[in-house]
Amino acid sequence: MNEKITTGTIQRKTSAFGKDVMYGLSQHPKSLSSKYFYDAEGDKIFQQIMNMPEYYLTNCEYEILSQQRKDICDAIHALDEPLNLIEFGAGDGYKTKLLLKYLLDNKAEFNYYPVDISNHILDELQSKLHDEMPDLDVKPVNLEYFEALTTLSKIKNRRNVVLFLGANIGNFRYKEAENFIGRIHSSLNEGDLLLMGVDLRKNPNIIRLAYDDPHGITASFNLNLLKRMNRELGADFKTDSFSHYAFYEPVDGEMLSYLVSKKDQVVHFDALEWSVEFNKDEFIHTEVSKKYSISELEMMAESQHFKVMKHFFDGKQYFVDTLWKLK
Ligand code: AVI
Repeated sequence: MNEKITTGTIQRKTSAFGKDVMYGLSQHPKSLSSKYFYDAEGDKIFQQIMNMPEYYLTNCEYEILSQQRKDICDAIHALDEPLNLIEFGAGDGYKTKLLLKYLLDNKAEFNYYPVDISNHILDELQSKLHDEMPDLDVKPVNLEYFEALTTLSKIKNRRNVVLFLGANIGNFRYKEAENFIGRIHSSLNEGDLLLMGVDLRKNPNIIRLAYDDPHGITASFNLNLLKRMNRELGADFKTDSFSHYAFYEPVDGEMLSYLVSKKDQVVHFDALEWSVEFNKDEFIHTEVSKKYSISELEMMAESQHFKVMKHFFDGKQYFVDTLWKLK
Protein backbone atom coordinates (compact mmCIF):
# COMPACT_ATOMS: atom_id res chain seq x y z
CA MET A 1 0.00 0.00 0.00
CA ASN A 2 1.30 3.47 -0.81
CA GLU A 3 2.06 5.61 2.22
CA LYS A 4 0.73 9.14 2.54
CA ILE A 5 3.08 12.02 3.39
CA THR A 6 1.34 14.26 5.89
CA THR A 7 2.03 16.28 9.01
CA GLY A 8 -0.93 18.09 10.46
CA THR A 9 -3.97 16.67 12.15
CA ILE A 10 -7.54 17.81 11.47
CA GLN A 11 -7.36 19.72 14.73
CA ARG A 12 -4.41 21.82 13.61
CA LYS A 13 -6.09 22.68 10.30
CA THR A 14 -9.36 23.59 11.99
CA SER A 15 -7.70 26.00 14.37
CA ALA A 16 -5.70 27.52 11.51
CA PHE A 17 -9.01 28.03 9.70
CA GLY A 18 -10.51 29.73 12.78
CA LYS A 19 -7.47 31.98 13.15
CA ASP A 20 -7.50 32.94 9.47
CA VAL A 21 -11.23 33.66 9.62
CA MET A 22 -10.86 35.95 12.65
CA TYR A 23 -7.94 37.74 11.03
CA GLY A 24 -9.53 38.07 7.58
CA LEU A 25 -12.92 39.26 8.83
CA SER A 26 -11.25 41.85 11.10
CA GLN A 27 -9.53 43.51 8.10
CA HIS A 28 -10.80 46.49 6.13
CA PRO A 29 -11.85 45.39 3.56
CA LYS A 30 -12.75 41.96 4.88
CA SER A 31 -11.16 39.00 3.12
CA LEU A 32 -10.88 35.21 3.29
CA SER A 33 -8.45 32.93 1.48
CA SER A 34 -9.85 31.00 -1.49
CA LYS A 35 -7.98 27.93 -0.26
CA TYR A 36 -10.88 27.44 2.18
CA PHE A 37 -13.33 26.83 -0.69
CA TYR A 38 -12.20 23.22 -0.85
CA ASP A 39 -13.93 21.17 1.82
CA ALA A 40 -15.87 18.04 0.74
CA GLU A 41 -18.87 20.19 -0.31
CA GLY A 42 -16.67 22.74 -2.11
CA ASP A 43 -14.83 19.95 -3.95
CA LYS A 44 -18.20 18.70 -5.23
CA ILE A 45 -19.30 22.14 -6.42
CA PHE A 46 -15.93 22.70 -8.08
CA GLN A 47 -16.51 19.49 -10.08
CA GLN A 48 -19.78 21.03 -11.31
CA ILE A 49 -17.96 24.25 -12.24
CA MET A 50 -15.48 22.26 -14.32
CA ASN A 51 -18.38 20.67 -16.20
CA MET A 52 -20.07 24.00 -17.08
CA PRO A 53 -19.68 25.18 -20.70
CA GLU A 54 -18.90 28.72 -19.43
CA TYR A 55 -15.84 27.47 -17.49
CA TYR A 56 -13.77 26.99 -20.65
CA LEU A 57 -10.49 26.43 -18.73
CA THR A 58 -10.93 22.69 -18.12
CA ASN A 59 -11.77 21.82 -21.73
CA CYS A 60 -8.92 23.94 -23.06
CA GLU A 61 -6.35 22.21 -20.89
CA TYR A 62 -7.88 18.81 -21.58
CA GLU A 63 -7.51 19.51 -25.29
CA ILE A 64 -3.84 20.46 -24.85
CA LEU A 65 -2.99 17.41 -22.75
CA SER A 66 -4.89 14.96 -24.92
CA GLN A 67 -3.73 16.24 -28.31
CA GLN A 68 -0.16 17.15 -27.41
CA ARG A 69 0.76 14.60 -24.74
CA LYS A 70 3.38 12.95 -26.93
CA ASP A 71 5.06 16.31 -27.58
CA ILE A 72 4.87 17.19 -23.89
CA CYS A 73 6.35 13.86 -22.80
CA ASP A 74 9.09 14.22 -25.42
CA ALA A 75 9.85 17.73 -24.22
CA ILE A 76 10.23 16.56 -20.60
CA HIS A 77 12.38 13.60 -21.75
CA ALA A 78 10.02 11.33 -19.88
CA LEU A 79 11.04 8.18 -21.70
CA ASP A 80 14.80 8.80 -21.56
CA GLU A 81 15.52 8.78 -17.82
CA PRO A 82 13.67 8.09 -14.53
CA LEU A 83 11.79 10.99 -12.97
CA ASN A 84 9.66 12.14 -10.07
CA LEU A 85 6.41 13.66 -11.26
CA ILE A 86 5.27 16.06 -8.52
CA GLU A 87 1.84 17.59 -8.98
CA PHE A 88 0.61 20.59 -6.96
CA GLY A 89 -3.16 20.87 -6.52
CA ALA A 90 -3.71 17.47 -8.07
CA GLY A 91 -7.49 17.58 -7.60
CA ASP A 92 -9.35 14.70 -9.21
CA GLY A 93 -6.53 13.99 -11.67
CA TYR A 94 -8.96 14.17 -14.61
CA LYS A 95 -6.41 15.85 -16.89
CA THR A 96 -3.21 14.46 -15.37
CA LYS A 97 -4.46 10.93 -16.06
CA LEU A 98 -3.89 11.63 -19.76
CA LEU A 99 -0.17 12.10 -19.11
CA LEU A 100 0.09 9.30 -16.55
CA LYS A 101 -1.52 6.80 -18.92
CA TYR A 102 0.74 7.82 -21.78
CA LEU A 103 3.82 7.46 -19.57
CA LEU A 104 2.75 4.01 -18.31
CA ASP A 105 1.86 2.79 -21.80
CA ASN A 106 5.28 3.86 -22.99
CA LYS A 107 7.10 2.22 -20.08
CA ALA A 108 8.46 5.45 -18.56
CA GLU A 109 10.11 4.99 -15.17
CA PHE A 110 8.53 7.44 -12.72
CA ASN A 111 6.95 8.03 -9.30
CA TYR A 112 3.86 10.19 -9.04
CA TYR A 113 3.58 12.56 -6.03
CA PRO A 114 0.16 14.29 -6.02
CA VAL A 115 0.14 17.20 -3.53
CA ASP A 116 -3.20 18.53 -2.30
CA ILE A 117 -4.40 20.18 0.90
CA SER A 118 -7.65 18.24 0.62
CA ASN A 119 -7.19 14.85 2.26
CA HIS A 120 -10.54 13.78 0.91
CA ILE A 121 -9.54 14.56 -2.69
CA LEU A 122 -6.24 12.68 -2.30
CA ASP A 123 -7.97 9.58 -0.95
CA GLU A 124 -10.38 9.58 -3.86
CA LEU A 125 -7.60 10.17 -6.36
CA GLN A 126 -5.49 7.38 -4.93
CA SER A 127 -8.27 4.82 -5.03
CA LYS A 128 -9.31 5.87 -8.57
CA LEU A 129 -5.73 5.64 -9.82
CA HIS A 130 -5.30 2.29 -8.10
CA ASP A 131 -8.35 0.92 -9.96
CA GLU A 132 -7.50 2.43 -13.32
CA MET A 133 -3.70 2.14 -13.31
CA PRO A 134 -2.67 -0.50 -10.76
CA ASP A 135 0.98 -0.34 -11.88
CA LEU A 136 1.31 3.35 -11.10
CA ASP A 137 3.54 4.21 -8.13
CA VAL A 138 1.51 6.89 -6.29
CA LYS A 139 2.90 8.71 -3.24
CA PRO A 140 0.20 11.18 -2.05
CA VAL A 141 1.37 14.27 -0.18
CA ASN A 142 -1.29 15.82 2.07
CA LEU A 143 0.41 19.15 2.79
CA GLU A 144 0.10 22.80 1.87
CA TYR A 145 2.21 23.76 -1.14
CA PHE A 146 5.03 25.41 0.79
CA GLU A 147 5.24 22.59 3.34
CA ALA A 148 5.25 20.07 0.49
CA LEU A 149 8.10 21.88 -1.25
CA THR A 150 10.24 21.69 1.87
CA THR A 151 9.51 17.96 2.23
CA LEU A 152 10.02 17.18 -1.44
CA SER A 153 13.24 19.13 -1.72
CA LYS A 154 14.80 16.37 0.37
CA ILE A 155 14.01 13.79 -2.34
CA LYS A 156 16.92 14.24 -4.72
CA ASN A 157 17.20 10.74 -6.14
CA ARG A 158 15.86 11.57 -9.59
CA ARG A 159 15.11 14.37 -11.97
CA ASN A 160 11.98 16.25 -10.86
CA VAL A 161 9.17 17.43 -13.09
CA VAL A 162 6.71 19.66 -11.24
CA LEU A 163 3.18 19.90 -12.64
CA PHE A 164 1.10 22.88 -11.64
CA LEU A 165 -1.93 22.55 -13.91
CA GLY A 166 -5.49 23.85 -13.96
CA ALA A 167 -4.67 27.58 -13.72
CA ASN A 168 -4.01 27.16 -10.00
CA ILE A 169 -1.20 29.73 -10.26
CA GLY A 170 -3.97 32.27 -11.02
CA ASN A 171 -5.23 32.03 -7.44
CA PHE A 172 -2.09 33.91 -6.35
CA ARG A 173 -1.62 37.61 -7.01
CA TYR A 174 1.32 38.31 -9.38
CA LYS A 175 3.85 38.99 -6.60
CA GLU A 176 2.71 35.92 -4.61
CA ALA A 177 2.96 33.81 -7.76
CA GLU A 178 6.48 35.08 -8.33
CA ASN A 179 7.35 34.19 -4.75
CA PHE A 180 5.87 30.71 -5.14
CA ILE A 181 7.79 30.07 -8.37
CA GLY A 182 10.92 31.34 -6.60
CA ARG A 183 10.31 28.84 -3.79
CA ILE A 184 9.90 26.04 -6.35
CA HIS A 185 13.22 27.15 -7.84
CA SER A 186 15.06 27.01 -4.54
CA SER A 187 13.64 23.54 -3.73
CA LEU A 188 14.61 21.93 -7.04
CA ASN A 189 17.84 21.16 -8.86
CA GLU A 190 19.35 22.53 -12.03
CA GLY A 191 17.72 20.93 -15.08
CA ASP A 192 14.46 20.09 -13.24
CA LEU A 193 11.29 21.12 -15.07
CA LEU A 194 8.04 22.92 -14.32
CA LEU A 195 4.92 22.46 -16.49
CA MET A 196 2.34 25.09 -15.55
CA GLY A 197 -1.25 25.46 -16.83
CA VAL A 198 -2.17 29.13 -17.11
CA ASP A 199 -5.35 30.90 -18.18
CA LEU A 200 -4.55 33.62 -20.68
CA ARG A 201 -5.94 37.13 -21.07
CA LYS A 202 -8.80 37.26 -23.56
CA ASN A 203 -12.11 39.04 -24.15
CA PRO A 204 -13.20 40.22 -20.67
CA ASN A 205 -16.79 39.04 -21.22
CA ILE A 206 -15.69 35.46 -21.77
CA ILE A 207 -13.66 35.54 -18.56
CA ARG A 208 -16.37 37.16 -16.46
CA LEU A 209 -19.01 34.66 -17.58
CA ALA A 210 -16.80 31.76 -16.45
CA TYR A 211 -16.95 33.15 -12.87
CA ASP A 212 -20.49 34.53 -12.89
CA ASP A 213 -22.41 31.76 -14.59
CA PRO A 214 -26.17 31.89 -15.25
CA HIS A 215 -26.71 28.54 -13.43
CA GLY A 216 -25.62 30.03 -10.09
CA ILE A 217 -23.02 27.26 -9.60
CA THR A 218 -20.10 29.63 -8.96
CA ALA A 219 -22.31 31.64 -6.61
CA SER A 220 -22.99 28.50 -4.56
CA PHE A 221 -19.24 27.70 -4.61
CA ASN A 222 -18.51 31.12 -3.13
CA LEU A 223 -21.39 30.95 -0.63
CA ASN A 224 -20.19 27.52 0.52
CA LEU A 225 -17.43 29.39 2.35
CA LEU A 226 -20.11 30.78 4.69
CA LYS A 227 -21.67 27.34 5.10
CA ARG A 228 -18.24 25.90 5.89
CA MET A 229 -17.81 28.46 8.70
CA ASN A 230 -21.25 27.44 9.99
CA ARG A 231 -20.29 23.75 9.90
CA GLU A 232 -16.76 23.96 11.27
CA LEU A 233 -16.74 27.07 13.43
CA GLY A 234 -20.34 27.06 14.66
CA ALA A 235 -21.08 30.34 12.87
CA ASP A 236 -24.64 31.46 12.15
CA PHE A 237 -24.31 32.94 8.65
CA LYS A 238 -27.60 33.10 6.76
CA THR A 239 -26.46 32.48 3.21
CA ASP A 240 -29.48 34.22 1.67
CA SER A 241 -28.29 37.42 3.37
CA PHE A 242 -25.18 37.48 1.14
CA SER A 243 -24.76 37.56 -2.63
CA HIS A 244 -22.01 36.53 -5.04
CA TYR A 245 -20.31 39.38 -6.93
CA ALA A 246 -17.62 38.74 -9.54
CA PHE A 247 -15.95 41.14 -11.92
CA TYR A 248 -12.98 41.09 -14.27
CA GLU A 249 -10.45 43.91 -14.09
CA PRO A 250 -8.74 43.87 -17.51
CA VAL A 251 -5.81 46.19 -16.71
CA ASP A 252 -4.20 43.80 -14.22
CA GLY A 253 -5.95 40.75 -15.68
CA GLU A 254 -7.56 39.93 -12.34
CA MET A 255 -10.88 38.15 -11.99
CA LEU A 256 -12.10 39.13 -8.52
CA SER A 257 -14.81 37.47 -6.43
CA TYR A 258 -16.66 38.79 -3.39
CA LEU A 259 -19.53 38.00 -1.04
CA VAL A 260 -21.69 41.06 -0.41
CA SER A 261 -23.81 41.53 2.71
CA LYS A 262 -27.42 42.36 1.78
CA LYS A 263 -28.12 44.06 5.13
CA ASP A 264 -26.63 45.21 8.43
CA GLN A 265 -26.04 42.02 10.40
CA VAL A 266 -23.99 40.43 13.16
CA VAL A 267 -22.61 36.91 12.80
CA HIS A 268 -21.60 34.88 15.84
CA PHE A 269 -19.01 32.07 15.89
CA ASP A 270 -19.65 29.61 18.73
CA ALA A 271 -16.33 27.77 18.36
CA LEU A 272 -14.37 31.03 18.43
CA GLU A 273 -16.50 32.81 21.04
CA TRP A 274 -16.39 35.73 18.69
CA SER A 275 -18.76 37.93 16.65
CA VAL A 276 -18.35 40.13 13.61
CA GLU A 277 -20.51 42.92 12.20
CA PHE A 278 -21.37 43.49 8.56
CA ASN A 279 -22.83 46.71 7.20
CA LYS A 280 -25.28 46.57 4.32
CA ASP A 281 -23.26 46.31 1.05
CA GLU A 282 -20.05 45.52 2.88
CA PHE A 283 -18.12 42.77 1.10
CA ILE A 284 -15.69 39.94 1.78
CA HIS A 285 -13.03 39.49 -0.90
CA THR A 286 -12.83 35.73 -1.46
CA GLU A 287 -10.80 35.02 -4.59
CA VAL A 288 -8.47 36.31 -7.26
CA SER A 289 -8.08 34.37 -10.51
CA LYS A 290 -5.29 36.13 -12.39
CA LYS A 291 -5.10 35.90 -16.17
CA TYR A 292 -1.71 36.20 -17.85
CA SER A 293 -0.25 37.39 -21.12
CA ILE A 294 2.62 35.39 -22.60
CA SER A 295 4.97 38.32 -22.00
CA GLU A 296 4.04 38.42 -18.29
CA LEU A 297 4.78 34.69 -18.04
CA GLU A 298 8.11 35.03 -19.80
CA MET A 299 9.03 37.94 -17.54
CA MET A 300 8.22 35.83 -14.49
CA ALA A 301 10.26 32.86 -15.76
CA GLU A 302 13.23 35.14 -16.38
CA SER A 303 13.01 36.87 -13.00
CA GLN A 304 12.81 33.51 -11.16
CA HIS A 305 15.71 31.94 -13.10
CA PHE A 306 13.80 29.58 -15.34
CA LYS A 307 14.31 29.16 -19.07
CA VAL A 308 11.07 28.93 -21.09
CA MET A 309 11.32 25.73 -23.14
CA LYS A 310 7.98 25.64 -24.93
CA HIS A 311 4.38 26.87 -24.80
CA PHE A 312 1.61 24.35 -25.55
CA PHE A 313 -1.59 26.19 -26.55
CA ASP A 314 -5.17 25.04 -27.16
CA GLY A 315 -6.71 25.76 -30.57
CA LYS A 316 -8.36 29.02 -29.41
CA GLN A 317 -5.24 30.18 -27.56
CA TYR A 318 -7.33 30.71 -24.43
CA PHE A 319 -4.97 28.66 -22.28
CA VAL A 320 -1.34 27.60 -22.18
CA ASP A 321 0.65 24.80 -20.60
CA THR A 322 4.06 26.38 -20.39
CA LEU A 323 7.22 24.33 -19.85
CA TRP A 324 10.12 25.89 -17.95
CA LYS A 325 13.57 24.54 -17.06
CA LEU A 326 15.47 25.47 -13.91
CA LYS A 327 18.65 27.39 -14.74
C1 AVI B 1 -8.94 26.32 -8.84
N1 AVI B 1 -8.92 27.59 -9.56
C2 AVI B 1 -7.91 27.56 -10.62
C3 AVI B 1 -10.23 28.02 -10.05
C4 AVI B 1 -10.11 29.35 -10.82
O1 AVI B 1 -10.46 29.37 -11.98
O2 AVI B 1 -9.61 30.32 -10.25
C5 AVI B 1 -11.23 28.17 -8.92
C6 AVI B 1 -12.55 28.75 -9.35
N2 AVI B 1 -13.16 29.75 -8.77
C7 AVI B 1 -14.29 30.01 -9.38
N3 AVI B 1 -14.41 29.19 -10.41
C8 AVI B 1 -13.33 28.37 -10.39
